[in-house]
Amino acid sequence: MTEESFKTTYLRFENIEELNKDEQDLVRAAYTALSKSYSPYSCFKVGAAVRLSDGTIVQGTNQENAAYPSGLCAERTALFAAAMEEASAVSLAVVAKTSQGKDASAYPCGACRQVMSETEKRYGNKLSVIVGLKDGGFVKFDQVADLLPFEFEI
Ligand code: THU
Repeated sequence: MTEESFKTTYLRFENIEELNKDEQDLVRAAYTALSKSYSPYSCFKVGAAVRLSDGTIVQGTNQENAAYPSGLCAERTALFAAAMEEASAVSLAVVAKTSQGKDASAYPCGACRQVMSETEKRYGNKLSVIVGLKDGGFVKFDQVADLLPFEFEI
């Protein structure tokens, strides 16, 4: 028996100005997407934006349904829409707002992390992930393994 461990590395930014221009543009696209969130049940808006290798940005939001599991998270809405393009997904930003319009922390759920992991595999490149926080700051992970170690594999 051996005891093993892993280390996660990420960057923390105090505000949007600390991000570089491309990152700021991606985060702003995620915020812009919030107006298209369909979230009458949770009243929790989530916006995502995916940058492709050709610079294109694809947006997504959470889409809810009266039959609750039929809805989809913002990250997967954006990643699946991005999969329709030829260029590969290289980065993703996700932000959230409460029903009062306040910033909320937008750490992706496990299912979205699993889809992010497979996104890296299908395109053969790393996907960086920027997450908006409730204090107005951001965290950035350079690769999905830093968010999801031990992903499911077949
Ligand atoms: N949601 C996302 O859009 N992304 C996540 O990673 C977790 C949760 C959405 C689903 C639902 O519409 C709302 O947030 C409240 O759970």
